[in-house]
Amino acid sequence: MADDLLKLSKKAVDIILSFPRSTRVRVISHYDADGISAAGIICKALYRVGYDFHASLMRNPFDKGLKRVMEEENELIIFSDMGSGQVDTIEKMKGQCIIVDHHQFIKKNTSRNVFQINANLCGFNGNYDACGATLAYSIAKCLDSSNIDLVPLAVAGATGDKQYIGGWRGYNKTVVEEGLKNGLLEERVDIKLYGETLFDALYYAVDPYYSGVSGNSEGINRLFKKLGLKKNVRFEELDESMRKKLYSFLILRLIKKGCEKDILDTVIRSRYYAPGLFNCEMERFADLLDACGKGGHRGLGLSMCLGDKRSFDEAVVLEKKYKQSILDEVLKLEKKGFEEREGFRYFYSRDSSLGGVICGIAVNFILDREKPLLSLVRKDDEVHVSCRGNQYLVSRGLDLGGAMKIVADRLGGFGGGHSIAAGATIGLDKEKMFLDLVDEIVSKQLKKNIGGK
Ligand code: C5P
Ligand code: ZN
Repeated sequence: MADDLLKLSKKAVDIILSFPRSTRVRVISHYDADGISAAGIICKALYRVGYDFHASLMRNPFDKGLKRVMEEENELIIFSDMGSGQVDTIEKMKGQCIIVDHHQFIKKNTSRNVFQINANLCGFNGNYDACGATLAYSIAKCLDSSNIDLVPLAVAGATGDKQYIGGWRGYNKTVVEEGLKNGLLEERVDIKLYGETLFDALYYAVDPYYSGVSGNSEGINRLFKKLGLKKNVRFEELDESMRKKLYSFLILRLIKKGCEKDILDTVIRSRYYAPGLFNCEMERFADLLDACGKGGHRGLGLSMCLGDKRSFDEAVVLEKKYKQSILDEVLKLEKKGFEEREGFRYFYSRDSSLGGVICGIAVNFILDREKPLLSLVRKDDEVHVSCRGNQYLVSRGLDLGGAMKIVADRLGGFGGGHSIAAGATIGLDKEKMFLDLVDEIVSKQLKKNIGGK
């Protein structure tokens, strides 16, 4: 496991160092918090050892982005937090390619110009044990042991992919422990409430989403009245007893909504602060990266990872707008409800970058646990699909990544991901067929295992 990863990381480093320092390394990564953190780690490590880099952050489906890369003249391309699902395309590229991924892989053995490190091929579970950023960190450390200071980015990436749910495991656990032992991370048990005022922190809380409070000024005013709080009080100003009252109220709100225990356990939990990365808490950092990536400011997210304070401050401002657009849709859905199929629920969303985020919020904080949720975004002649399940459904056989891949392949689209979170893009005319086929497969996945128990 860890030995395999170390061996493969060393091999990746040998490949990188076989190129002269004058090489401009092409870095391609996913545009979410994990992907941006992974790119940040790789770019910083490359730069430190003397290479220039050119990074792009891409979103699903990667076909158009990869087509552009195919037309470039690259000697060395590193793909992080993506690539294993696109290996057939990558094999056709000119130059040497390295893939560092934790998504479901298509094949173990790749052609000679492609070197693949996939968490699932190193004895790790790519859903929980390792992510794009922690794998990138493993390579960075092999490149130079002083890159251990990039550990906060690795933890931010794993946090962004929600791999802490159920407790740190596998390689991620090693990475977190390494950060703590070396004073690069500080651990404190706390809730996530960030904002200039407590009012703001509650208003913009989307994950956890507190129904009746998040995005709901009247609801917050009622709560403040009940607790005897002033409108512009700051979270830091609350005394211990007031904090306890507030926490109880919020947790009770989640319990009333039927929130699952594994999710509840993540609300007040050990959090990791990085003195060397703006003193930021790692979930907060991951949230900002997500807001940058999915809110149309990908470069800003990467600059934050490279340590630029101005970018960090700018991201804090931009995040509000991003969260408001999420809240607008979630609030609407809460009122209007979801479409129901035998094997899943679904809804239509406006923005394909936000579909997955909204799906995740609704699955964890609004709906019951019995069915996964799909978001559909119609754009031009395509439908972009995001889907999310929960650990309960996965333990009963749900494999969304598998379902998306099979159905998308059959309909000439692109699909894949993880068992708990996945996505697909298909032609607009295939939407009904897509829904029918997914229903068939997911119903079978869930029933087969329920029956078998
Ligand atoms: O886009 P979204 O965040 O919903 O994607 C969820 C997961 O599914 C991601 O890990 C993503 O890489 C994967 N996915 C995929 N193929 C697609 C769309 C999404 O593998 N066409
Ligand atoms: Zn990832």
